Amino acid sequence: MEKIVIPNTNLRVSRLVAGCMGLGGGWDKGTVLTKEHETQARKFLDKALELGINFFDHANIYAVGRAEEVFGRVMSEQPGLREKIVIQSKCGIRWADDPPGSPQRFDFSYENIVSAVDAILRRLGTDYLDILLLHRPDVLWEGEEVARAFAELKAAGKVKYFGVSNQNRAWMEYLQSFLPDPLVANQLQMSLLHHGFAEVGISFNQAAPGYPDGWEGVVEYCRLKGVSLQAWSPLDRGALTGGDLSKLPESARKTAALVKKYADARGVPAEAVALAWLLRHPAKIVPILGTSRPDRLEACAKSLEVNLSREEWYSLFESARGKAMP
Ligand SMILES: NC(=O)c1ccc[n+]([C@@H]2O[C@H](COP(=O)([O-])OP(=O)(O)OC[C@H]3O[C@@H](n4cnc5c(N)ncnc54)[C@H](OP(=O)(O)O)[C@@H]3O)[C@@H](O)[C@H]2O)c1
Repeated sequence: MEKIVIPNTNLRVSRLVAGCMGLGGGWDKGTVLTKEHETQARKFLDKALELGINFFDHANIYAVGRAEEVFGRVMSEQPGLREKIVIQSKCGIRWADDPPGSPQRFDFSYENIVSAVDAILRRLGTDYLDILLLHRPDVLWEGEEVARAFAELKAAGKVKYFGVSNQNRAWMEYLQSFLPDPLVANQLQMSLLHHGFAEVGISFNQAAPGYPDGWEGVVEYCRLKGVSLQAWSPLDRGALTGGDLSKLPESARKTAALVKKYADARGVPAEAVALAWLLRHPAKIVPILGTSRPDRLEACAKSLEVNLSREEWYSLFESARGKAMP
């Protein structure tokens, strides 16, 4: 599989990232890890490695910590594997009732960042994270406090590089102004059906801009500064690749049909074309795959064989936005 070096790092990673949200048995706090969860994680890890994927995305909240725990268990079965792969995790979202009586919230305090990383490392059974992302913006954050936590984690060898997720340009610039090292990633929802990142560029100077607030300058800022753009939910949770379209608008149904047409013409699965639409973007968007199924990982890997022409790229975009280009 194609590898790229993340700018401002010495991390050489696969063009596709294996997202680990589907491991560990879902979101129920009471679930206990079983042999079946371990088997699922082992098959997932083995298939990813077989395909050449060496980059794994976690968050401390996935499956209430069990995604990291079960990944750590199966990783430990392969001595020496840790040094061959790149692990990223996230912190900053806190569940309700942690501690009892508290609401769900975001927490970029020094104490929460540092203690969250210690717990992540414990669950994964590793001494270090390659990348730590702040998961969702905390309105009450202080740049100095985050910078202090990052500096301490780096000095202790617990985290090599830092980034963000779901942050707009202003938030990134604010945080960056406190940090000695460049932020290396911003993980955002980007896909054919969540195309605000593309829409923002062509909607400028139009009577009715058709993009969600917040996207202004994000892609260009990241390209200029070398911040890797990572796409979460790149397959719209299967909507364009055989999943449920019943609650989606006509434009999504038409786009699914067009994805299938381009896929059939090339003899590849629909996943390959839907992901190729992201891969074709010059910002070198890195899709974070969400499937936990080995067969779907294989289907996703075929995306690297697909080069969409400019005409195909725009026809998919036009179909997904449900109206012609301005
Ligand atoms: N930073 C953030 O805020 C954030 C938010 C969400 C996710 N993430 C990260 O991004 C990764 C990807 O997100 P995602 O899981 O939403 O990505 P996705 O690839 O768009 O969706 C994957 C999900 O859709 C299901 N799916 C795929 N194809 C399907 C089909 N044809 N029919 C029915 N279901 C289908 C998968 O089930 P199977 O497992 O059965 O294939 C899986 O549950 C996550 O693993 C996580 O690492 C980050």
